Amino acid sequence: MRTLFSSSVGKKLIMSLAGLFLITFLVVHLGINLLLFMDSTEPFNIAAHFMATNLVIKVFEIVLFGIFFLHMIYGLILSVQNMLARPVGYRKANHSQKSFFSKYMFHTAIILLIFLGLHLLDFYIKSKFLGGADTIIIDGEEYHDLATLVIERFQIGWVVIIYVIALFGLGFHLHHGFQSAFQTLGLNHPVYTPIIKFLGVLYSIVVTLGFMAIPVLIYFLK
Ligand code: HEM
Repeated sequence: MRTLFSSSVGKKLIMSLAGLFLITFLVVHLGINLLLFMDSTEPFNIAAHFMATNLVIKVFEIVLFGIFFLHMIYGLILSVQNMLARPVGYRKANHSQKSFFSKYMFHTAIILLIFLGLHLLDFYIKSKFLGGADTIIIDGEEYHDLATLVIERFQIGWVVIIYVIALFGLGFHLHHGFQSAFQTLGLNHPVYTPIIKFLGVLYSIVVTLGFMAIPVLIYFLK
């Protein structure tokens, strides 16, 4: 068990599993966010309320934050270890066999970390701890009006621009991260590897464009 956390392979394994969990979270998060495009704000507010109050999801949220933390810490340690292990002059000679996207995993991770800080402050912390969301009544029950909070936030041009830039970072990160996670888990197969790579590209494009559409369309249409 100790070697799982301390060895380089163990750290990569934990990072991959954490990454796959986050990849799944993003699909659920995007699905709920797309409800913002319905005629009424009620479906989004009801779904967000369910996510915030359901006991199972509450436990899941603690796991989610833990996994985010684990993924970031292990990514940081592995990046520093790789940098220190690099022979002198390697940087200049640029003999790296890495793909374009994998070279920028650390840079895009920093963009995502800053984005996540701002994002949580914008919605999660504001609504949960700072009383930033109004209360509305739907069928006699109280809900936070998160939809209005999101829509008001995306009326501001520079916020939309920051989201779009950060989401490019997300796309880059997912593009390499998806297939890299499967490779670390040992999937190296003449038939399945190209399929995984294709699914990784498809996933990163669909998820990135899906998230990008939210601030951009809200800014122009709502
Ligand atoms: C661009 C469109 C997005 C919108 C409109 C959006 C909206 C929201 C809202 C309203 C919340 C608060 C939910 C609550 O308090 O119950 C939230 C939380 C959160 N968002 Fe986003 N989000 C977006 C993109 C992202 C992206 C790209 C990521 C990850 C890279 C992300 C990660 C999170 C996390 C970790 C939480 C806290 C956990 C949770 O409440 O589910 N979000 N988001």
